[in-house]
Amino acid sequence: MAKVVGAVATSHVPLIGKAIARGWQDQPYWKPFFDGYGPVRQWLAEVRPDVAVVVYNDHGLNFFLDKLPTFAIGAAATYCNADEGWGLPVAPPFPGHPELSWHIIESVVADEFDVTTCQEMLVDHGLTVPMALLWPGERSVRIVPITVNHVQYPLPSPARCFKFGRAIGRALATFDGEARILLVATGGLSHQLDGARAGFINRRFDLFCLDKIATDPEAMTRLSILDIVREAGAQGTELLTWLVVRGALPPDVVARHAHYHAPISNTGAAVMVLEPARSEVAAA
Ligand code: DHB
Ligand code: FE
Repeated sequence: MAKVVGAVATSHVPLIGKAIARGWQDQPYWKPFFDGYGPVRQWLAEVRPDVAVVVYNDHGLNFFLDKLPTFAIGAAATYCNADEGWGLPVAPPFPGHPELSWHIIESVVADEFDVTTCQEMLVDHGLTVPMALLWPGERSVRIVPITVNHVQYPLPSPARCFKFGRAIGRALATFDGEARILLVATGGLSHQLDGARAGFINRRFDLFCLDKIATDPEAMTRLSILDIVREAGAQGTELLTWLVVRGALPPDVVARHAHYHAPISNTGAAVMVLEPARSEVAAA
């Protein structure tokens, strides 16, 4: 049977990928940031996931303004990356898990979430940078990529994203195959890359999110998209991916690790590990 081992939520700033490629981890600018990931990798070595369901937002590599699904799920055997600029090397292909992908797709569509299914899908820095942070060397996990539109308005509301996560959680609970599943949310926290508020970071709101996502995610579902833009900047809407993943976890979770460092490039950078609480594991 499948088991959800927990979740990692992390920022995905492209410059992090460049820093990894260039080996800058111990430089003074980067060390306080990368130090946040040691405990995450230690936890991953303990829980040993073999498949990662990665909820991220595409930035124009696979989808563009002409066609932009609200929610899309990859169902490919392999996912390629491509040159998006940012000084990022092109990542080697990622093996997929089509059986789990189709199970999630069938389950969420039956659950009234009419997702776009992608049998070909380029994955951008929203996926590749977190994978390089979590598995800097050998990586043995397969992936199921899931994207949330944060580019072309209207965006799905925080409440809708949380409910989509609930549907994903129900899908994972009914998967018959053997799998140790890690959920990954990527993006955020506060940042705005353009316009009059370019460079905007809101540490207070970021710390509020790190607390509420673990203890009271419903508080975040009461926010509107405009609230998030106001508090977290235009690109702070990437926080929607965190709400999807939180919805897919059981109500009771334990925050095994949380780390915040700002700025990294233009972003309030955070990483968090959430594990189902013991009571939830017993009930499953
Ligand atoms: C930055 C952050 C992002 O989330 C992104 O997709 C691109 C750039 C940044 O902080 O530079
Ligand atoms: Fe981004």
